[in-house]
Amino acid sequence: MLRVCQRAADVKLLTLETTCDETAAAVVTDRLEVLGSVVASQDDLHKRFGGVVPEIASRAHLERILPVIDQALRQAGVSLAELDAVAVANTPGLAGSLLVGLVAAKALCVALDVPLVAVNHLQAHIYACRLASDEDVFPCVGLIVSGGHTSLYRCGGPLQFDLLGATTDDAAGEAFDKVASMLSLPYPGGPSIQRAAEHGDPTAYRLPRALLRDEDRLDFSFSGLKTAVRYQLVGPGRQDFAKVQLADSQVADLAASFQEAVVDCLVGKAFAALRQTGLSILCVGGGVAANTRLRQRLKEEADRRDIRLHVAPLRLCTDNAVMGAIAVERLRAGLVEDLDLDVFPGVVRKTG
Ligand code: KG4
Ligand code: ZN
Repeated sequence: MLRVCQRAADVKLLTLETTCDETAAAVVTDRLEVLGSVVASQDDLHKRFGGVVPEIASRAHLERILPVIDQALRQAGVSLAELDAVAVANTPGLAGSLLVGLVAAKALCVALDVPLVAVNHLQAHIYACRLASDEDVFPCVGLIVSGGHTSLYRCGGPLQFDLLGATTDDAAGEAFDKVASMLSLPYPGGPSIQRAAEHGDPTAYRLPRALLRDEDRLDFSFSGLKTAVRYQLVGPGRQDFAKVQLADSQVADLAASFQEAVVDCLVGKAFAALRQTGLSILCVGGGVAANTRLRQRLKEEADRRDIRLHVAPLRLCTDNAVMGAIAVERLRAGLVEDLDLDVFPGVVRKTG
């Protein structure tokens, strides 16, 4: 029995993340210690397109996955033979990207004769809040706001998610990226818009906040906001943003006004979800959760309403494999996968 306890405290997992355009690997223990973590960003490859190109992303994952795994293991001082399980995000994401991580994980599981653990990428984004907290963060409302997703979940536990609402068109991060491209700001758009907005007036342009007044509905829509920014620049019909000459102050004002509109929608719907569910804990994860203005507004609102707020730490907002430590919860629950596990690019509405 003593041996089992010692062994249980020592379980080491390799976690892989290739859902979109970051190739990442981490080594974590079942006590949620992070022994090593490597993220290879593909931003440079997608920059000139102003967004992620799926085919380029999957090819880049293929080139990088083995060096990234090697580096994470070296950082951790852990050999392949010491691994007790391999976990991989297999849903949701870009099919070709997901496949690279899944095939690498399966190959390792066969070679090492260790169990395969499936990670839901959206649950992992919320679990980033748990990893940064000394206390349990469940049950909570989970807001995942990234380049590919903008969704609200009722999270009964780390593995029990129930969809409350989601974007009906663009994800918030995608809107940041597209608007940045219109303003000739560099990719990825979120950090660029945030920087430009620091010097801008958020009330300079009147931009739409779709669905915000409809309190019963917990969905989002950002495509109209994107179009509204476009009309401020070129008007209907014309598309050549490169020819638009904008003063720095105009860029700053548009960036600030756009950012404020997105933040209003995210904060408004997150707190509407708390009211509807009666929950008093809010967890926020995903790349856009790195946004300073969003973090500030969430905190103000949470303080005012006596809500316990957990926003993922900056290093765990954008895609990484550390948040794949949620695999520990699945291992504990005995949830391991057969080797015929597939990828599921779409969003699962209900889990657990
Ligand atoms: O979570 P993530 O790495 O990938 C997905 O799962 O989609 O999120 C990437 C997204 C990009 O759209 C990027 O522009 C956005 O997160 N982002 C930000 C900030 N940092 C990254 N958006 C707003 N403000 C930021 N500071
Ligand atoms: Zn993500």
